[in-house]
Amino acid sequence: MSSQTAPRKRVTIHELRRMKEAGERIAAVTAYDATAARLVDAAGADVVLVGDSLGMVVQGHDSTLPVTLDQMVYHSAAVRRGLTRGGGRAHLVGDLSFGSYQASPDEAVKAAMRLVAEGGCEAVKLEGGQDYVEVVRRIVRAGVPVMGHIGLTPQSVHKLGGYLVQGKEADKAQGLLRDARALEGAGCYAVVLECIPAELARIVTAQLRIPTIGIGAGPHCDGQVLVLNDLLGLDETFAPKFVKRFGELGRAVGVAVGAYVSEVKARTFPADEHSFHSSTVRLVPAEAGGEDERDEPTGGVVGAPV
Ligand code: KIV
Repeated sequence: MSSQTAPRKRVTIHELRRMKEAGERIAAVTAYDATAARLVDAAGADVVLVGDSLGMVVQGHDSTLPVTLDQMVYHSAAVRRGLTRGGGRAHLVGDLSFGSYQASPDEAVKAAMRLVAEGGCEAVKLEGGQDYVEVVRRIVRAGVPVMGHIGLTPQSVHKLGGYLVQGKEADKAQGLLRDARALEGAGCYAVVLECIPAELARIVTAQLRIPTIGIGAGPHCDGQVLVLNDLLGLDETFAPKFVKRFGELGRAVGVAVGAYVSEVKARTFPADEHSFHSSTVRLVPAEAGGEDERDEPTGGVVGAPV
């Protein structure tokens, strides 16, 4: 029997469609750096999203609006390196940042190409429905797969009046269904449904041939996506209804860093096993010799790096 493990098959947009058709759930998660990318890929995530949520969880802003395209490219490239080094199976999607695709389809195509060429993404995600049909068409025609995103679209937070559940009223729900169909018709290969009633997400999912990826959209979507920091429990003060904490890493970080600080203060870290040694380096007490002696050490080097 060979000790080699079979190469891991890369997840493509076609594999995601196959998963929907086969009724296999799609697990998506965000990542913003190489280490996180390697870990989530090894844990089996099908899709890694470099979300502009990094504006909040990495940069400390209170919205995604200040995130620039350059920053999205930078983080995407880091995630790509992490995936590649780890043997990368997951499908990599990068968010088009606020302002990079709204003004014109030409700008949108250029922004999408940067995320692919410089950031190593396999697809881009953009927020919006029927109004973005032409933008989606143009990006797809340029050879870049597009993931749609409707419902609560954080880049429109000021228009929406806050981070509120969308599509609760019948007319709004109809509008979102039209948005989803329009995105599919324009060539999107998947669509994120954020913070909409589970009943609506079920209808949208049943009516589309492309996979739906839900966040705060109930259990009937073809897949789910969560912000990595949220599912790891890195911020104990952030507990919206749609997030389940699958770990308590915020607490674990507090315990680990607290132990480190205590050991530094108590001088128990670093111990001998964390230290390097050299038989040719010795300390010369100040009173044992003058400058001349230190210039010509006998039997050892004084002050040499270890
Ligand atoms: O920016 C992001 O992380 C996202 C997901 C939450 C869908 O858009």
